[in-house]
Order: sequence, then C-alpha cells, then structure tokens
Amino acid sequence: MYDFLKSHSTRPSPHSLYTARELWTDPHVAQQMLALHLDRDGDVASRSHQAIDRIVVWLDQRFGLSSGKRVLDLGCGPGLYANRMAYLGARVTGIDFSEGSIAHAQRTAPNGSVRPLYVVADYLDLELGESFDLILLIYGDLCALSPTQRARLLQSIRSWLAPGGHFAFDTFSTALFDEVEEEARYTFEPDGGFWSPRPHFDFLRRFKYEGSLYLDRHAIVEETHTREVFNWMQCYDVDSLERELGELGWEVTEALGSLAGDPYEAHRHDFAAVARPNERA
Ligand SMILES: C[S@@+](CC[C@H](N)C(=O)[O-])C[C@H]1O[C@@H](n2cnc3c(N)ncnc32)[C@H](O)[C@@H]1O
Repeated sequence: MYDFLKSHSTRPSPHSLYTARELWTDPHVAQQMLALHLDRDGDVASRSHQAIDRIVVWLDQRFGLSSGKRVLDLGCGPGLYANRMAYLGARVTGIDFSEGSIAHAQRTAPNGSVRPLYVVADYLDLELGESFDLILLIYGDLCALSPTQRARLLQSIRSWLAPGGHFAFDTFSTALFDEVEEEARYTFEPDGGFWSPRPHFDFLRRFKYEGSLYLDRHAIVEETHTREVFNWMQCYDVDSLERELGELGWEVTEALGSLAGDPYEAHRHDFAAVARPNERA
C-alpha cells in the first residue's frame, strides 16, 4: 500500500496514462454517470436539461436542423441532445462507448420522427461510410483527449463532414485552469459511493502542468483491490484553440460563450466554438 500511494503521489508525464474508457464503461461508475446525466438540474456529466433545451434551439436556428440536416453527435451519452434534435426533424447518428447510455438513448428516442441511429463505439476508432452537415462534441470532451488523440479525431471529423459542414463543440477554459489548485485529499465511503458499491477510499492528487493542462489522479482503494483513474483536462482560450486547430488544418469561425449562442466571456469556465476544415490545408 505504501508503494501504491507513493506512486499515486508522483506527477506523471502529460497523457502518459489514459483511463477514460474505464471511467465511462465500468458498470458501477457508468450507472452513477447515467444518474448524473439524467439529473435535470445538475451540471456534472451533462448540462442541466434547461441548458440543453436552449442549446438545441440555437443549433436549430444556426444550422437549420429541422430541415432534415444530418447530425453526428460524438459522445452522445444518453441522447439528451440527439433525441431533442431528432424530434425537431434532424437525421441524427449518436456514438458512445457507454452501453448503458446508448440503451437509455434508444429507449427514450421520440416516436413520430426519424429515429436517431445509436451506435456503441469508440469515436477514436470509428469507420463511418457517410457524411454529416453538423458534427457535435459536447461537454468538453475534446479537453479529455491527448494531443495525439485530438489530432486523430479532428482528422476523422474532417473526413466525415459533408462539403460546407460544421464542427461545433465546447471546451473548458484557461479561466478554470487559473482557478484550480494543486491538491491532495481523500474521502472514505464506508457504504459504497461513486467509484464502487463497496466501501472504498478515494485519494485525489491534482497536478497542474505548463500549457493549461491539469490532471485529477484518483486512487480507488477497496479492501481487496486498488485501481487508478486519470482525468486529464486541457484548457483553452480562444487564441490557443485557434492555434491548435489551425495547425491541424481547421479554422475557428465562431467563438461563443456557449452552444446556446451566448457571447464569449473570457472569465467563464467554458466556452464553445464552431469550426470548419481550412480549405487551404
Ligand atoms: C461528459 S459526457 C457528455 C455526454 C453528452 N455529450 C452530453 O453532454 O450530455 C462524455 C460522453 O462521451 C462518451 N465518450 C468519452 N470518450 C469516448 C470515446 N472515445 N468514444 C465514444 N464515447 C466516448 C462517454 O461515454 C460519455 O457519454
């Protein structure tokens, strides 16, 4: 245990470990995540349902979803956006590697409209034989990926976009990065909790890195076994986002406060952007 906790307290090099799949697909944690998605007022795994309603209204106004636009929702979770967009008349494909979330999305898909197509898959490793007018990646999912994964995903998105199509997404901001502090703490859940149905400790080390990257490194310690979860968070401002996307052959055409069309404000913890492939790239 000493060696495990000593290693847990060590700062790893950026993106040297990736555990997002376990985070979203471990049966117990995935169930907890689904409950957070479905919390109408909460803002933890998905935005509040009122915020989602506003976003879908703006997406419809901005991209004309209801005219049967083809939308690809990457990391669609339990379909909170995809089902609303389908209800408006969009032809939606939702991708997520959480089976429980996809099952919920399918169960709650609206009748009387073109039902969304939901696929359990890893969007980092996905073949798609069709193209889309709008591709979405919502709730800061870009920030959880390594630079290599982001480059690969943006390359795929480019290949899935129809001519004139758009990529709309949101990210966490450098204002958030400036506020978070390095820390070490633990909690004890004697009756089970978020990470396990059994009694467990959650040791958290937060490390900050150059370039607005931070890591929440969790060690989950149960009576019979231990495991670690690495949550990386790359934060951006408009300049760093434009620079990174520019290097990958993309142009940010709009920077917004949110995908509900709010104006950009540098002090907020997140912001949104619309981008398109740079034709010169
Ligand atoms: C923060 S949640 C956001 C869900 C949804 N976009 C929303 O805002 O309600 C991230 C979602 O992306 C999914 N996800 C993360 N990485 C993924 C990957 N590589 N392939 C497929 N799904 C992924 C997770 O299972 C989870 O449902």
